[in-house]
Amino acid sequence: MKALLLAGGLGTRLRPLTENIPKPMAPIANRPWLEHLIVHLRDQGVNEFVIAAHHCSDVIRRYFENGKRWNVKITYALEPYPLGTAGAIKNAERWLNERFLVFNADIVHLPELIPLLDFHRQHGGLATIVLTEVDDPSSYGVVEQDDCGRILRFVEKPRCEEAPSNRINAGMYIFEPDVMRYIPAEREVSIERETFPLLIEKNVGVYGIVSNGYWRDMGTPARYRQVHWDALSREFPIPLKGREIQSGVFVGENVEIGAGVLFVPPVLIGDHVKIGPQAVIGPNAVIGDRCQIGARVHCAQTIVWDRSVIRDRSRLQNSIFGYRTVTPAGEVFEDSIINQFKEAVQA
Ligand code: GDD
Ligand code: MG
Repeated sequence: MKALLLAGGLGTRLRPLTENIPKPMAPIANRPWLEHLIVHLRDQGVNEFVIAAHHCSDVIRRYFENGKRWNVKITYALEPYPLGTAGAIKNAERWLNERFLVFNADIVHLPELIPLLDFHRQHGGLATIVLTEVDDPSSYGVVEQDDCGRILRFVEKPRCEEAPSNRINAGMYIFEPDVMRYIPAEREVSIERETFPLLIEKNVGVYGIVSNGYWRDMGTPARYRQVHWDALSREFPIPLKGREIQSGVFVGENVEIGAGVLFVPPVLIGDHVKIGPQAVIGPNAVIGDRCQIGARVHCAQTIVWDRSVIRDRSRLQNSIFGYRTVTPAGEVFEDSIINQFKEAVQA
C-alpha cells in the first residue's frame, strides 16, 4: 500500500519554529512527527511513501533518505513552488498508479487503516475523506453527508454559523488513481477549495467516514503544546521513550540528575540530558535529547527541543525552545517561542 504525505506547507502559524523545518518535522515527544506517522502506517502495512514537499524539503530528505532505516521505501515529489494540496498530489502522479492514501502530515492522529479501507471498498466511489467531529469547525473543511455517508457538500473554513455540520475533514483520504483526472497539472490547486467540490459535482462517489480516536492539528503553538500534554497524560497514546522513574516521569538513557532535582509529573526527558542541582521540572515539561538544564531552573508547561542549553536559574513557563537554543542565566521566559539555530535536524 502506498501513502502520499503532504508536507509542503509553510507552517506560518508555528513560526519561528518552522523557519528552518517543515511543520511535520516538528518533534512530538522528542521524535519528528513525520517519523511517528511513517512508523505507525508501516506497522499497518504501508510500505511505500511519497513525500510531497517544498519548504525546507532538504530537512526531510536528509532525515529519512530512502527510508531503508525504517524498512520502507520513500520517494520525494518536490515542488518548484507550492502547488497546493491537490497540485502536490498531481505532481506525484507517476508514483500513484493504484489505490493510495493521502495524509496532511501535520495532523496528529494514529488512525486504524483497516476499517477505513473496508469502508472505501464497500462504497465503491473514487474518494473517501476521513472525518472527525469538533466543537468549532470554522478553521477546517466541513462536510454535509447523506445517510449512506456520501458527501453532498464540502466547505473549507466556513464562518461558524454557515458550517453545515461539526464533521470536518480530518486530513486523510483514500483515493482511486482516477481522481487524478480531475486535478489540473502544473498549477496550484487546492483539494479543499477546488477538487472536492468538483468531485462532488461530477458525482464520482465521495464518501466520508468518522474515525474515532485522538485527533489534533498541531498547526499553532497552543495546539502543538496541547498535543504534548495529551501525550504525557496518555490521552494520546503515542509511545514515549524512556524509563518511568516515578509515576508520570519518563527519563531516557544516560541522564544525569543533580542533587535535589524535583520532578513534578508529567515529565518526559530525552537521552543524554544533564539536569543541574535543585532544578524543578514539570508539570508538563518535555526536554529533548542532549539538552543541558542548569541549576535551579524552573521549567513548566514547556517543550525544549534537542541540544538546547538552559542556563542556571532560568524560569521557563508555557514556552517552546527550538533546536540548540542557548539561554542566558537567570532569564524568565513566559509564553515564548524561540528559534535561534538555523541548521537542520539529523536522524
Ligand atoms: N506538498 C505540499 N504543497 N503540501 C502542502 C501545500 C503545498 O502547496 N500546502 C499545504 N500543504 C500541506 C501542509 O504541509 C499540511 O501538512 C497539509 O498540506 C494541510 O495544509 P495546512 O496549511 O496545514 O491546512 P489547514 O490545516 O489550514 O487545513 C487543512 O487541514 C484541516 C485539518 O487540520 C484542510 O485540509 C482542512 O480541510 C482540514 O480540515
Ligand atoms: Mg494544518
